[in-house]
Amino acid sequence: MPIINRLADLTDEITAWRRDIHENPEILYETVRTAGKVAELLESFGLDEIATGIGKTGVVGVIKGKNGGKGRTIGLRADMDALPIEEITGKPYASKVPGKMHACGHDGHTAMLLGAAKYLAETRNFDGTVVVIFQPAEEGGAGAKAMIDDGLMTRWPIEEVYGMHNFPGMPVGEFAIRKGPIMAATDEFRISITGRGGHAAKPHDTIDPIVVGSQMVNALQTIASRNADPLDSVVVSVTVFQAGNAFNVIPQETFLQGTVRTLSPEMRDLAQERMELIVKATAEAFGASAELKFIRGYPVTANHDDQTDFAAAIAEGIAGEGKVQRDIAPMMGGEDFSYMLEERPGAFIFAGNGDSAGLHHPAYDFNDELIPVGCSYWVKLVETALPAAA
Ligand code: NI
Repeated sequence: MPIINRLADLTDEITAWRRDIHENPEILYETVRTAGKVAELLESFGLDEIATGIGKTGVVGVIKGKNGGKGRTIGLRADMDALPIEEITGKPYASKVPGKMHACGHDGHTAMLLGAAKYLAETRNFDGTVVVIFQPAEEGGAGAKAMIDDGLMTRWPIEEVYGMHNFPGMPVGEFAIRKGPIMAATDEFRISITGRGGHAAKPHDTIDPIVVGSQMVNALQTIASRNADPLDSVVVSVTVFQAGNAFNVIPQETFLQGTVRTLSPEMRDLAQERMELIVKATAEAFGASAELKFIRGYPVTANHDDQTDFAAAIAEGIAGEGKVQRDIAPMMGGEDFSYMLEERPGAFIFAGNGDSAGLHHPAYDFNDELIPVGCSYWVKLVETALPAAA
């Protein structure tokens, strides 16, 4: 069950959509042109329903199967937003917008789901309903959550949901997936420490917030080394340490900032709990005061077991035996498809992008050779999950 022929025929057309989106990148919720193009194409494919403005600039398309759509409903999701990066690919279709580019391949994700939608609307070789989801603001704006808050999962009775992301460094035609956590929860913290400033030559008259901050940085490392189960994962990185502006003055305040990455809700709660205690108690021990802001970002992207097995089997049908890694190590980056997987069972899969620059790199480009592979994955997933009655 390799690439579907009809999708191979459509590849030039889908590639043209991809490159047009690539040339016109839009970030976060600003995906107005992209959403407009998506809606226009879905309209031209003859979908049964198209809804725009879901989660501000998200688009939802509905395709009913041969039996009029009765039975199960599954959701397929693509992201549409670009990044605030200056492109250096030098490609003829490079970004025309200064300071913005599709450096994560969401242009390709959108084009592949459009290609699958065109094929599915044309053939309807399934029973049930497919909901194609095009979301804005994956890159830090929680666009998936905005769409859910707008009724995505209930307005259309989605029972299972699937997502796909290209993966630089893995050959085109290969896939990777895992059960359970596949991407991390991404939280941010900000710590403000207030001591008592004074003359650097008279430290005994001061409460030095730099010393307090230093103790805190060290103590925070014990969350990973002493609190976490060695077989569970947590990253605590202090990435900002700001204090002082003169060689002979002990400052009044110190500011720390950083990120926490975890792969389970339990570890996430534990990290926050420990951080609160360490910050408060360390400040207290030195007579300083400290305030912690723990800002929760995307939750853990956790694949559901049955849907992961199913997605892996579909991928293997396209890629061939031995071309689907079923136990890839989780990534410590975040992904807002996590919100959809909290709502419904489903699976998020990686598809090889070949030997390209890494994601979020200014020289990155989505690999168009992935188009027939990714489209075939979507189509086979639908035709297998929602088989047409003979
Ligand atoms: Ni991405």
